[in-house]
Amino acid sequence: MTPTDFSPKEIRTQAQRRRTFAVISHPDAGKSTLTEALALHARVIGQAGATHGKAGRRSTVSDWMKMEQDRGISISSAALQFEYRDTVINLIDTPGHADFSEDTYRVLSSVDLTIMLVDAAKGLETQTMKLFDVCKHREIPIITVINKWDRPGIDALELMDEIVQRTGMVPTPLTWPVGQSGDFRGVLNREDGTYTKFTRTDGGATIAGEETMDAEAAEELEGDAWTNAVDESDLLELEDQNYDEESFLAGHTTPVMFASAVLNFGVHKILDTLVDIAPPAHARIDVDGNPREVDAPFSGFVFKVQAGMDSNHRDRLAYVRVCSGVFERGMVVTHAATGKPFATKYAQQVFGRDREVIDTAFPGDVVGLVNASALRVGDSLYLDEPVSFPPIPSFSPEHFMVIRAKDSSKYKQFRRGIEQLDHEGVIQVLRSDLRGDQAPVLGAVGPMQFEVAEDRMQNEFNAPCTLERLAYTIARRTVQEDIPTLARERSVEVLHRSDGTLLALFSDRWRLQGVEREHPNLTLEPLVVT
Ligand code: G4P
Repeated sequence: MTPTDFSPKEIRTQAQRRRTFAVISHPDAGKSTLTEALALHARVIGQAGATHGKAGRRSTVSDWMKMEQDRGISISSAALQFEYRDTVINLIDTPGHADFSEDTYRVLSSVDLTIMLVDAAKGLETQTMKLFDVCKHREIPIITVINKWDRPGIDALELMDEIVQRTGMVPTPLTWPVGQSGDFRGVLNREDGTYTKFTRTDGGATIAGEETMDAEAAEELEGDAWTNAVDESDLLELEDQNYDEESFLAGHTTPVMFASAVLNFGVHKILDTLVDIAPPAHARIDVDGNPREVDAPFSGFVFKVQAGMDSNHRDRLAYVRVCSGVFERGMVVTHAATGKPFATKYAQQVFGRDREVIDTAFPGDVVGLVNASALRVGDSLYLDEPVSFPPIPSFSPEHFMVIRAKDSSKYKQFRRGIEQLDHEGVIQVLRSDLRGDQAPVLGAVGPMQFEVAEDRMQNEFNAPCTLERLAYTIARRTVQEDIPTLARERSVEVLHRSDGTLLALFSDRWRLQGVEREHPNLTLEPLVVT
């Protein structure tokens, strides 16, 4: 079939079947475990363990770089697709380590929903809050999952209070735990008052047993644990903390579920909730503020570019979120940034380490375009009717290092490597005439980005480097006219970023405030996350 063989109605139906989301959480809240459990339930994989990214576990699906395996953290983003109840679920994986939050922020531009995963014993942690802010800014609806209920933790009502206090969103639990944290017996389904009892299976490696019964049977079986759950649920009812579609989609409320990812408790409910209430792929707003309807000709945008993921596939992969129309492998699309044609001969669906050739994709899906050296993060692609989607913002770097080639005869490789890392958004590359091309400055949101850059320069581009720390911690956007004034200030430097932004770097807040006081007319704007 070619894209023209699909009627607009068929495309709309396919878009309606898609749920594209990411899980945001603080490291260790259980994101990899939940990913694995969701895939297990959708029966993509036979036994839990196959997608888990921790060192020492079996081979991983969503984590792939050697460094990731060594450290047991997830650095690169993978897209996982599976079907559940005739719905196509696209789970976009995000890096687990806080140092890669820049990457995570970008990934969030590709999803229609996020699941905020909270460790029941820890509540809302710093990284969860940062990511939450980005979702809120982007108006992405959020479903909250309280994980690790099998372990002693914070009281359920207290957790609800914390959500209200710290996020401003009203939690509207869909399920309520029966048994305190540490004694997880099952959940009260608040919509119909039934009880789903969970049964452990060996090591949580297979789907947990679930039995649903009415309230009377539940009370007989669980006694006080059941009546407590009912009382607390009634309290929520009094506070009007019930699910409401409109306020959920508007980001004012967050449906909540309780789970134990490691025991596979509550995972079915999460999948059912995705199918039942998560927004399907819908029209995307272009740079001019007009919606690109899902049944318009093909369009998509690059939210991640990655290379060197696997020594068997030494190439460059651009992840594209399909926004409208049908994507068909082999199709020649237009690259909006250059107006040039782009052939998609090598489209693949990426399932962690394994790649499958993909032939057709619909709005909400993610395709990996191989050998995509012309594509940058944020670029739009389209067929027939031109469209550009709003650029994905770059974030304010807080760590800076000068990078130089160790061996001057490798300068060509050095340049190529730097350019590549810059394109991929692995690190921000900052330049000035004064420093020249041989010693650019690298800017990072988290210092671990430097390690990835250094490692890749050496192993992938064959250009060993030295890195030297600079004593700046704050960047502000400035303008050309202000450069001469800033250049006269001590401990201040102005550099160009490759997206054209001029960044003034300061050693610390006090230095910045000093300069602002002395020259109140200078443009020194914070780089905000939008
Ligand atoms: P992350 O991707 O968010 O960083 O978290 P990950 O899934 O790797 O989980 C972090 C730790 O929390 C793991 O333990 C994992 O087994 C555990 N965990 C995840 N979900 C649950 C849960 O529902 N209940 C309990 N009790 N633990 C959970 P670990 O000791 O770091 O690794 P491992 O020894 O289990 O491999």
